[in-house]
Amino acid sequence: MNLSALIKAAFFLTSTLAWSPTDSYAPGPIACPANNASLLRNADGISSSEASWVGERHKNTDDALVRFLVNANMTDFDANNFVHNTLNRSINIAVAFSGGGYRAMLNGAGQLSALDNRTTGAAENGLGGLIDATTYLTGLSGGNWMVGTLAMNNWTSVQDILDNGTIWDLEHSMFAPGGINIFKTASYWKEISDDLSDKRDAGFNVSLTDAWGRALSHQFFLNYPNMGAALTWSTLRDADVFSNHSMPFPIVVTDGRTPGSTIIGSNSTVFEVSPFELGSWDPSLHSFVDVKYLGSVLDNGRPVNSSACIGGFDNAGFIMGTSSTLFNQFILQLNTTGITGGLYDLIHDFLSDVSKDSNDIAVYRPNPFYKSSSAGEESIVQADTLYLVDGGEDLQNVPLYPLLQPERDVDIILAFDNSADTNESWPNGASLVATYERQFSAQGNGTTFPYVPGQDTFLALNLTSKPTFFGCDSKNLTTLNADGVIPPLVVYMANRPFSYHSNTSTYKMSYSEDEKRGVINNGFEVATRNNLTLDAEWAACLGCAIIRRGQERQNISQSAQCQKCFSEYCWDGSLVAADTDVSLLVNFTSTGLTSGAENATGTSNTTNAAGSVKFGGSSMWQTVIYVLATLAVISFA
Ligand SMILES: *[C@@H]1O[C@H](CO)[C@@H](O)[C@H](O)[C@H]1NC(C)=O
Ligand SMILES: *[C@@H]1O[C@H](CO)[C@@H](O)[C@H](O)[C@H]1NC(C)=O
Ligand SMILES: *[C@@H]1O[C@H](CO)[C@@H](O)[C@H](O)[C@H]1NC(C)=O
Ligand SMILES: *[C@@H]1O[C@H](CO)[C@@H](O)[C@H](O)[C@H]1NC(C)=O
Ligand SMILES: *[C@@H]1O[C@H](CO)[C@@H](O)[C@H](O)[C@H]1NC(C)=O
Ligand SMILES: *[C@@H]1O[C@H](CO)[C@@H](O)[C@H](O)[C@H]1NC(C)=O
Ligand SMILES: *[C@@H]1O[C@H](CO)[C@@H](O)[C@H](O)[C@H]1NC(C)=O
Ligand SMILES: *[C@@H]1O[C@H](CO)[C@@H](O)[C@H](O)[C@H]1NC(C)=O
Ligand SMILES: *[C@@H]1O[C@H](CO)[C@@H](O)[C@H](O)[C@H]1NC(C)=O
Ligand SMILES: *[C@@H]1O[C@H](CO)[C@@H](O)[C@H](O)[C@H]1NC(C)=O
Ligand SMILES: *[C@@H]1O[C@H](CO)[C@@H](O)[C@H](O)[C@H]1NC(C)=O
Ligand SMILES: *[C@@H]1O[C@H](CO)[C@@H](O)[C@H](O)[C@H]1NC(C)=O
Repeated sequence: MNLSALIKAAFFLTSTLAWSPTDSYAPGPIACPANNASLLRNADGISSSEASWVGERHKNTDDALVRFLVNANMTDFDANNFVHNTLNRSINIAVAFSGGGYRAMLNGAGQLSALDNRTTGAAENGLGGLIDATTYLTGLSGGNWMVGTLAMNNWTSVQDILDNGTIWDLEHSMFAPGGINIFKTASYWKEISDDLSDKRDAGFNVSLTDAWGRALSHQFFLNYPNMGAALTWSTLRDADVFSNHSMPFPIVVTDGRTPGSTIIGSNSTVFEVSPFELGSWDPSLHSFVDVKYLGSVLDNGRPVNSSACIGGFDNAGFIMGTSSTLFNQFILQLNTTGITGGLYDLIHDFLSDVSKDSNDIAVYRPNPFYKSSSAGEESIVQADTLYLVDGGEDLQNVPLYPLLQPERDVDIILAFDNSADTNESWPNGASLVATYERQFSAQGNGTTFPYVPGQDTFLALNLTSKPTFFGCDSKNLTTLNADGVIPPLVVYMANRPFSYHSNTSTYKMSYSEDEKRGVINNGFEVATRNNLTLDAEWAACLGCAIIRRGQERQNISQSAQCQKCFSEYCWDGSLVAADTDVSLLVNFTSTGLTSGAENATGTSNTTNAAGSVKFGGSSMWQTVIYVLATLAVISFA
């Protein structure tokens, strides 16, 4: 047995079938499902695989939730009785991590580590173990780099990653991982280039996202042979940590977009990728396909040739790259860099060679939804190619849509927002506003989301400075939607500085060890209210939010403690005066609040969108150009 087979056998006891059959980045033939069964289904509910998985997961989350609620020191509340006797179903907790490059990955890592009892200090700070009570875990772009890294590495912990120091080595940019060692960098790009050739030679289109996904894999999957070249997203089904339900159900969010078009929240098709399926609930598609068979030629879900199915297309790095294609924006800006002459031509030719389509698009060809009979939008299902882009391109930078599907019965979402909305790269609630508005569009399709204010109010009322609960009272939410679908309660927690200025640029590509740990530590403090120093009862208050929908369903009134918590953390529906100058609210006080509020007057100017592109400075550019030149040299050598 070779090394690669040994490692696979150790990690995946059940089966190795989900790895790419070619043992390389190239997809290859696998057996079609028995009786040529359809690989596609109408999005009329959660899949039977997910339903049975979640049912088993609840056997773990129920007990973990009781432990969490007991440790949170809630008063006048019998956690064990409530969870095991009072409720008629398990509470579904979901945790969502926004995009925003490495800033989002690292802040998200700190925030998640606060919920993870494997983190040193997490139990003392009140939230340790909450992730064990969580059912769903969503990630988008940089947030998904964090989720995907943990999920695909045997649900390792952030603590483990920091202690071992191999994964997430960000000292050098992924564009030039060799640092000053140009040969190391060149051989790195040669490997990536070879992987792309493998896929192309096997008859598949490659786009820039393939190169991007392979580069990301060198930072996330270095415990695997050839940096996870053959590691697929669907492999997770067979991993013990997933199949024994000891981690939450991970979902990646990405958007559909045809080249040359633009999308906003109300007309985007939001895609999700779970270990089982890729697809969308939105009426424009309303279908899901088995993710393991991506690359197979299908017609309304049936393999066109029942003896020619394909596996290995759903490469884990490729899926993670798909959710984060905004990074390709760097390269789209090539002609604004001032490069001219032969160097420009070389780079340009290489890029054209990699992708004839827009560069910020991941190419899924053949289109797995070809002629899907469930889809409302002909342009998606008549095309031979499916195009997916960064999940934040429709401004919904926090991946909430999968969690708003009524079929999932989510009770509470912890929404971690590490977006760069303001000029200083802090969040301002823009993502929640986009998600709120979307429910009223045709694509909303019966989903609901609590009322939220505009971005100015988020800043001026300190809603980004400390955790804020939205949708506290379901009685106030019945008019959102004709069917009276009650949305989850949303606990919004935005990036802000405690021990570290964690508002690094989305396009910052390298972090020293100190910077990396500084951002992660700050994320921990964001989630724990600065290690409970700002509110000793924070864990109990979060507990009050977690049990709220269950109490409402059973007509149970809140304890005095929970009423106090809700008056502290719930948005009360008030709005800031229209002439408030939120541009003054650029600093934070040591207690976490937005400073300058008392002096704020004038007109508002915060309109930056969650997904807006900002560039990080010239040194980044030099690196990009250097690498593109390297690539060009390799490909022409
Ligand atoms: C995966 O993690 C579990 C729990 O931490 C551990 O028992 C197991 O040995 C790990 N598997 C591998 C292959 O590292
Ligand atoms: C909060 O706790 C974490 C984890 O123990 C620790 O790393 C961090 O330094 C603490 N921060 C403060 C401000 O005490
Ligand atoms: C709960 O109370 C105990 C005893 O007073 C205390 O040690 C612990 O830190 C408290 N836990 C939280 C999360 O506040
Ligand atoms: C977290 O770990 C502490 C200390 O080991 C333990 O007391 C607590 O019950 C754990 N919390 C959860 C929610 O499992
Ligand atoms: C980190 O190192 C420890 C001890 O060597 C090992 O048990 C663990 O599996 C490693 N974790 C990762 C993610 O490499
Ligand atoms: C989505 O809406 C935006 C803004 O109205 C518009 O520019 C764009 O063309 C629309 N895209 C699609 C795919 O309909
Ligand atoms: C860059 O190129 C794109 C397409 O090739 C073009 O639309 C755009 O105007 C160019 N920008 C500049 C600054 O030349
Ligand atoms: C959602 O969209 C599907 C497909 O268009 C439709 O059949 C269904 O009735 C819609 N659901 C709601 C609640 O509008
Ligand atoms: C927000 O925080 C600032 C700084 O502490 C404070 O002056 C202001 O009153 C707060 N705003 C609200 C609405 O609480
Ligand atoms: C919810 O409704 C109650 C009265 O029904 C009202 O007092 C309260 O302010 C409302 N809360 C919000 C957030 O709108
Ligand atoms: C924010 O803080 C910086 C540095 O402390 C200071 O120069 C600036 O005036 C502050 N801005 C506002 C609006 O208070
Ligand atoms: C608000 O203005 C007063 C008077 O000019 C000044 O003393 C105070 O520092 C200002 N506060 C902030 C947060 O900028």
